[in-house]
Amino acid sequence: KRVAILISGGGSNMVALARSMTGDHPARPVLVASNDPQAGGLAKAADMGIATASVDHRPFKGDRAAFEAELQKILTEARPDILCLAGFMRILTPEFIDSWAGKMLNIHPSLLPKYKGLHTHARALEAGDAEHGCTVHEVTAELDDGPILGQARVPILADDTPETLAARVLPMEHKLYPAVLRQYVIGNRALVEIS
Ligand code: GRF
Repeated sequence: KRVAILISGGGSNMVALARSMTGDHPARPVLVASNDPQAGGLAKAADMGIATASVDHRPFKGDRAAFEAELQKILTEARPDILCLAGFMRILTPEFIDSWAGKMLNIHPSLLPKYKGLHTHARALEAGDAEHGCTVHEVTAELDDGPILGQARVPILADDTPETLAARVLPMEHKLYPAVLRQYVIGNRALVEIS
């Protein structure tokens, strides 16, 4: 199976995914693409020998369809079977999402359905939650709302700040996403749970 990974920044989740696709793993990374030509993850992907591409979203201003048309050209060339959003920070249109229905995953740093959107760690702290975590889900037109494929949980500690909490969640993302992808590739949809 061919996997393309979309990033916007450092790409630590992309690195974890790429590193997992070796040996008898039935998938391989065929492309890492970003909406930011300066994304740090692009250099990491290149260092790992993975093809990279970028489509700067800024020249397109609010024209999401035009940006996505360029992105689709790159994806068509790479012909991935699965698209993994990993720290990808652009909202995708329902049309784009429909074209990848059943083939697109995302990781979100909260225990969905709690805390869709941004600033999830601060919101979990604010709410006084005892635990927090991350979720891998199939992408649907509704933001951060698709079928949940896996979750990883961490305790929230009394002296946590958004930063210390994020630092506890991120390594769990790096465990969860590869575990979910491996199951997803072989057609297994049983919930993956890590704590
Ligand atoms: C992280 O905050 C992570 O929780 C979320 O996207 C951000 C950047 O991730 N998924 P990455 O290091 O670019 O994978």
